Amino acid sequence: MTYWMCDKCSFVIEAPKPPDPCPSCHIKCAFNDVTCYTPECGGIGSLDSRLVAQRVMKKEKPGKIMRFSDLVKGRNSEGKEKHIPSIELMKGQGKGGKDLVEVVVGREAPHPNTPEHYIVWIQLFGVLKDGHILDLGRAVFKPGVDKPVYSMEIDAAQFNHLFSFSYCNLHGVWEQHMEI
Ligand SMILES: [Fe+2]
Repeated sequence: MTYWMCDKCSFVIEAPKPPDPCPSCHIKCAFNDVTCYTPECGGIGSLDSRLVAQRVMKKEKPGKIMRFSDLVKGRNSEGKEKHIPSIELMKGQGKGGKDLVEVVVGREAPHPNTPEHYIVWIQLFGVLKDGHILDLGRAVFKPGVDKPVYSMEIDAAQFNHLFSFSYCNLHGVWEQHMEI
């Protein structure tokens, strides 16, 4: 199947051919192909969220250089309940009295878990008290098999902040942070 995006209102539709007129803005407009054709964009035949973001940026802020942070969604974005990586710190509950940090996507509302639409990975970073950033690891999930949960033991007293990112193959990268 092919995904089409209206160049006027950014409406996206999955259809064999672009509609005419656009079902959203109801005018005759050009539709751009935003289908993913390589494994890197989330799976061949799925929606390429990077292409969608690039086209939105080009339209809304012509000439602006796109940064990765422009693509990251957070607490105020639509769909946050299913996508935000929720960080929970359980002090003293790891092995040997260490602190346990658990990151879950879909704590409020479960996210789909099929090959067409799933959480691909979760990444965790810690900001040390001196400001240095520590990579606390990453989990990659198999659709339909794994639950999007990542946990590890840390010494929470070392850190000021924890940051986590999750990636949905259709809805992009999401961010959450926790002050310790
Ligand atoms: Fe999603």
